[in-house]
Amino acid sequence: MALRNIVKEGDDILNKKCRPVQKFDKKLAILLEDMAETMRNANGVGLAAPQVGILRRVVVIDIGEGLIELVNPKIIAFSGEQEGSEGCLSFPGQWGIVKRPNYVKVKAQDRNGEEFTIEGKELLARAFCHELDHLDGVVFKSVCERMLRPEEIEQ
Ligand code: CO
Repeated sequence: MALRNIVKEGDDILNKKCRPVQKFDKKLAILLEDMAETMRNANGVGLAAPQVGILRRVVVIDIGEGLIELVNPKIIAFSGEQEGSEGCLSFPGQWGIVKRPNYVKVKAQDRNGEEFTIEGKELLARAFCHELDHLDGVVFKSVCERMLRPEEIEQ
């Protein structure tokens, strides 16, 4: 496994739409492992492939309940609403108030191409929405209600 560079705000790749994964090969497995290591090293709870410069529909999430690998994920159901602060490893030190559904159900493939569904509420639902947005070139700053001022950010 290896750490990859995290693309930061201002890089155009963050605004591009990702292509689906078609080959479930060793290269995909290495990408998933590198992304998980890169996310953990940066103390993040989620990372999408475009954030490491790869325009493919691949996401890793770990909110502290174990690693979730999502390939070609789609939101197939959602309900409720939550409003809270959100950050992003590509926007270090910046936080915004973002409204998200409180419950999200995702259909995805695993690293071998097997389809599965996974549900999340609260923080996990927020992570699904945030990371899946990245796959369509959408960053939290463009969907937030407002950005937090420096004095509002708890260290
Ligand atoms: Co992000």
